[in-house]
Amino acid sequence: MLVSKALTSFFLPCTALAATLTQVSNYGGSATSKAQMWVYKPDNLKANPALVVVIHSCQSTAQSYFKNSLIPWKQGSDSGGYITIWPSSPNSGTCWDVSSKATLSHNGGGDSNAIANMITYAITEYSANASRVYVTGGSSGAMMSNVLAATYPELINAVSLYSGVAAGCFVGAGVDQWNNACSGGTLTHTAAEWTTIAEAMYPGYNGTRPKMQIWHGSADTTLAPQNYQEEIKQWTGVFGVSQTATSSKANTPQSQYTTSDYGPNVEGIYATGVGHSVPAHLNASEAWFGLP
Ligand SMILES: *[C@@H]1O[C@H](CO)[C@@H](O)[C@H](O)[C@H]1NC(C)=O
Ligand SMILES: *[C@@H]1O[C@H](CO)[C@@H](O)[C@H](O)[C@H]1NC(C)=O
Ligand SMILES: *[C@@H]1O[C@H](CO)[C@@H](O)[C@H](O)[C@H]1NC(C)=O
Repeated sequence: MLVSKALTSFFLPCTALAATLTQVSNYGGSATSKAQMWVYKPDNLKANPALVVVIHSCQSTAQSYFKNSLIPWKQGSDSGGYITIWPSSPNSGTCWDVSSKATLSHNGGGDSNAIANMITYAITEYSANASRVYVTGGSSGAMMSNVLAATYPELINAVSLYSGVAAGCFVGAGVDQWNNACSGGTLTHTAAEWTTIAEAMYPGYNGTRPKMQIWHGSADTTLAPQNYQEEIKQWTGVFGVSQTATSSKANTPQSQYTTSDYGPNVEGIYATGVGHSVPAHLNASEAWFGLP
């Protein structure tokens, strides 16, 4: 009697609070990048769950991003029953390497390769649905989201990124280089040039590519708003569609935000008066991914 009462009161709250952010120390693959993998599997995990990779900004980590109230993907995972993967940067200042030749190449061994290995590991180990793999991130994490879309298009179904720069914009002489021309918005290309840059990251790839949702604030003084235009040029170019929006909705998904579509695969959301970074809009990003 006493024992069973004690067990009941001990185990019930324990079960309810079981899910935690957990590090996976050996996720396999041959990348030289030492990026860490952290995973969150909610208590109500669905069978063959979807997978969302949530990539942190500079000066952050997997653990602090997971707790950030502006980044509500833990809550999404809890209510939607899907897995979230939280990579953690190995670089000083914890920005992601989006500049080296290694990270800007399919299977080049850099940070992008390490995150791709985490995706592959999660599909195998957790029976995640390989057709429902999604990527999101803010600032440096948004830059990495663009890089992953270019380097691992075969692994990812959709991307929703906040306040980043086009893939290949931060290109530099080594790992984790800042690029003032890009951040300042003076490094610009035509859609055709951006397409060549993205396609060169996985030469010969001719399969499907993730659909891209791109958020940016008009008052961003860290990554100039011109970077929004450059990202739209890059992905409309890659998908071979016009740089003129097919539809544009003011005050969507909220006041002062304008949502512009460029066919089914590219959507831009420009937030007037918003700085760096645009807060994650869980509902709109989930809708773009087709979640839950
Ligand atoms: C995986 O996702 C695809 C695309 O949503 C879906 O058609 C398929 O049924 C899913 N597979 C499983 C085993 O749930
Ligand atoms: C697409 O790429 C694959 C693998 O490299 C190749 O075998 C195939 O011929 C290519 N298809 C087209 C239409 O180019
Ligand atoms: C969330 O998105 C769905 C589908 O896009 C929409 O129907 C719903 O009203 C949204 N909810 C909120 C709280 O914005």
